[in-house]
Amino acid sequence: MNVSDRDHWNQRYTERPWPIDPSPWLVSNAGLFTTPGRALDIAGGTGRNAIWLASRGWDVTITDVSDIAIEVAAARATSCGITLTTLEIDLAASDLPDGPWDVIMVFHYLDRALFSVFARLLRPGGLVIGSLATIRNLERNERPPLPYLLDEGELPALIDGLDLTEYDESWEDRHHDARFVARRKAPSESST
Ligand SMILES: C[S@@+](CC[C@H](N)C(=O)[O-])C[C@H]1O[C@@H](n2cnc3c(N)ncnc32)[C@H](O)[C@@H]1O
Repeated sequence: MNVSDRDHWNQRYTERPWPIDPSPWLVSNAGLFTTPGRALDIAGGTGRNAIWLASRGWDVTITDVSDIAIEVAAARATSCGITLTTLEIDLAASDLPDGPWDVIMVFHYLDRALFSVFARLLRPGGLVIGSLATIRNLERNERPPLPYLLDEGELPALIDGLDLTEYDESWEDRHHDARFVARRKAPSESST
């Protein structure tokens, strides 16, 4: 267990609640999620995105290193009348849970190495959707710190074995994020 990540985030979640509204980027792509399937929310925190998707009939597994975040997510799901599968995982020490997943969500947790495993974990036709802060975010916000920030324009080169179908990098609501959707080709689309 990476005690420092867990302790840091447990303390953060104990001090003040995390926003409960789902990511506007996720919501703006609601049309991609009309057919429910299996979804994985990586470092999903207190579940704002997992709960939004599960409330649309999806079978969602949320992972996080913070046991407090996982407890909050599970309790919020219960109060919404839905079920989440919860996994307390330190991604610095453990692999992502095996797929196949129809959707992988990665919001505000940057681990560049994960991008090389998404294609293997996704079902053909499956999607990765996410939003990650870029280095320009430091112009207006102290956090996240540098190790958790993408360089400007870095994201497309991280996408590995998937087609980048949507990409936007801009200021929105005082945050500078790279927002993306990437898709694993279905077999019928694969080049011969
Ligand atoms: C900025 S929050 C984002 C939470 C959520 N994705 C969201 O957008 O609301 C980052 C999350 O990453 C989790 N995290 C940090 N280090 C981690 C690690 N080594 N393994 C798994 N989760 C980690 C934290 O506990 C926290 O919930």
